[in-house]
Amino acid sequence: MAAGEGPRGVAVTKDITPPTCGPDEIRVAVKASALNRADLLQTMGLYPAPKGVPADIPGLEYAGEVLELGARVTRWKVRDRVMGLASGGAWAEQLVTHEREAIAVPAGLDFAHAAAIPEAFITAWDALVLQGKMTAGSQVLIHAVASGVGTAALQLCALHGARAIGTGRNADKLERVRAMGLPDTVLVTKDQPSFAERIKTLTHGRGVDLVLDLVGGDWLAQTIDCMAPQSTLMLVGLVAGASADVPLRTVLGKRLTIIGTTLRARALEEKIAVARRFEQLVAPHFATGRLQAIVDATVPFSEAPTALERLAANETFGKTVLTW
Ligand SMILES: NC(=O)c1ccc[n+]([C@@H]2O[C@H](COP(=O)([O-])OP(=O)(O)OC[C@H]3O[C@@H](n4cnc5c(N)ncnc54)[C@H](OP(=O)(O)O)[C@@H]3O)[C@@H](O)[C@H]2O)c1
Repeated sequence: MAAGEGPRGVAVTKDITPPTCGPDEIRVAVKASALNRADLLQTMGLYPAPKGVPADIPGLEYAGEVLELGARVTRWKVRDRVMGLASGGAWAEQLVTHEREAIAVPAGLDFAHAAAIPEAFITAWDALVLQGKMTAGSQVLIHAVASGVGTAALQLCALHGARAIGTGRNADKLERVRAMGLPDTVLVTKDQPSFAERIKTLTHGRGVDLVLDLVGGDWLAQTIDCMAPQSTLMLVGLVAGASADVPLRTVLGKRLTIIGTTLRARALEEKIAVARRFEQLVAPHFATGRLQAIVDATVPFSEAPTALERLAANETFGKTVLTW
């Protein structure tokens, strides 16, 4: 059984033939998955699945149990608990994945919380640490900080001794972010759309060293305005729009680095590399409680359409999990 696309924006469930398991792959009984904006766009017909991925089954992450081992598999045994990224097709009772792309579920985590980890935390960690070179003392601006990726990022900043400043458009959600231990939040509303000056004040005029930009669009000019010289902008999401006026003179004068990034489009080898490092360096912190998957709601997968509507309406804080 899988949750697929019906007519535009309508999710339907259907019986499909389970995928075959290659020699280096494992078959996973999916116990939980989670919602992402890409699923929303895909169900609206605006984001076709990449080549080789089920075109009509959304789902970019999963947690579950190993059901079957390919002939060359050495890392796992049947019934091991695994989680990970998928290029699509995770809203199904079963999926297959390369054995080295799967990550062991940290001790003490249930499947619902494990399924809320891969997209948010791997995206944030890869952008902040591997590509953004965040270190202790870095001052980091996280746009849409109450999002799935944002709530992961603010915890990763704390873990690495970096200082985070978060923005958002919803005062209640920012209150919850402060309750998570992030004191510096900036509310951005229609009445008060400017944030650059407030970020500059919070950084004593210097600006931030690193930006995790989950919004893009017309926020970009102000974002660039509140960046420190030789700082880096990691462009990860475009919820505010896919094009923007860029103040190039400022980019040039401050010698800024702008890096666009996406996980889904990467080659298998790159995904394996990031999964292996994440399992070693980040996943253990979930077992100790230093990092926590922030789950807004856990709903049965038959309720995916309603859950997608909540996501589209920006009503969620952290991740929405689907369970089987
Ligand atoms: N590049 C990658 O590999 C990758 C991977 C994962 C996610 N992403 C992208 O990263 C972004 C965040 O993902 P997520 O799963 O964390 O999202 P999410 O949990 O759905 O949260 C997104 C938040 O963005 C804010 N927002 C929505 N529309 C906005 C607008 N027009 N202007 C400013 N803020 C707006 C809303 O928060 P408030 O209204 O509360 O401010 C919303 O809750 C998405 O664009 C997603 O597609 C990229």
